[in-house]
Amino acid sequence: IPDVYILAIESSCDDTSASILKNDSVLSNVVASQKIHEEYGGVVPELASRAHQQNIVPVVHQAIAKANIDKNQLNAIAFTRGPGLLGSLLVGTSFAKSMAIGLNIPLIEVNHMQGHILAHFIHEDNFNKPEFPFLAMTISGGHTQIVRVNNYFEMEIIGETIDDAVGEAFDKTAKILGLPYPGGPLVDKYAKQGNPKAYKFPKPKVEGLNFSFSGLKTSVLYFIQKQVKEDPDFINKNLYDICASLQYTIIEILMDKLKKAVKQTDIKQIAIGGGVSANSGIRNSLKEAEKKYGWKTFVPKFEYTTDNAAMIGIAGYYKYLANDFARQDITATARYSI
Ligand code: KG4
Ligand code: ZN
Repeated sequence: IPDVYILAIESSCDDTSASILKNDSVLSNVVASQKIHEEYGGVVPELASRAHQQNIVPVVHQAIAKANIDKNQLNAIAFTRGPGLLGSLLVGTSFAKSMAIGLNIPLIEVNHMQGHILAHFIHEDNFNKPEFPFLAMTISGGHTQIVRVNNYFEMEIIGETIDDAVGEAFDKTAKILGLPYPGGPLVDKYAKQGNPKAYKFPKPKVEGLNFSFSGLKTSVLYFIQKQVKEDPDFINKNLYDICASLQYTIIEILMDKLKKAVKQTDIKQIAIGGGVSANSGIRNSLKEAEKKYGWKTFVPKFEYTTDNAAMIGIAGYYKYLANDFARQDITATARYSI
């Protein structure tokens, strides 16, 4: 079989990314993160679209240059069709369509959430891949799902958030503490130096395998307001303990549902993906669960946890092998279930 070269484009949120894959190996993975949103404390969709518009051409050029290939070697172009911010998705979708027409090669549409899951199949030396069926927990700033993965494209959501995503829980509570956006990585950093049992935050009661994180944000807000009234310096004095307790609660919520999912499906292989899978607390808890419950867990390489085009490329590669191509009149879609 001849080698397959795929250019992949990801633009669903605030990262503009392009990647070149040779079969299931990544030759390049360029990510331009948009700094503009920091000062607003969250992603501003209109600004994200404009930044994608500026970034997309140089990012694609860089990906091709770094891969050291000629664009005429490309066999197909894969792009994120959804879910995500529509204005952002439109930039990547339109670019991918135009370039595919220009090069006269097929187009492959990819579901962003499937991309997060299939990132585990990117070829790496000494890398273990999950075997079907496995459970995937996608935890990011936009999503919180537990998915039963039967095959590359046969996936079933068995639990998801009914309100905020887990990344939002990190970011919104961090904002209450006065930390800059995105707060998740900072909470993680400070948590390492604090006592996770210093404060107790309530865990939500949600049916089945679903999640809820909006209540946590509210209870943290009330708690902090009350404490700051008594001592205006409360946050400064106790930042590490607050972060550790917060992270502890969030991870308990995730792990409780994972345990339930394992019980329900009898599947003990767990793969995580999405920005929050960079969190050291969840990584430690999964390692513990390997010993305690005999699970086999999979955590992607750091650069494939947050939004990136390589994960769209690997999904595109398997679709290419399955001859699953998109029509030229395909449109981006903000809501897109896996
Ligand atoms: O997957 P991602 O890059 O973008 C989305 O699709 O949302 O995820 C970004 C999210 C943000 O909420 C960020 O705070 C969170 O991932 N995040 C973390 C950590 N690193 C990133 N949350 C907790 N601990 C971390 N170390
Ligand atoms: Zn994502």
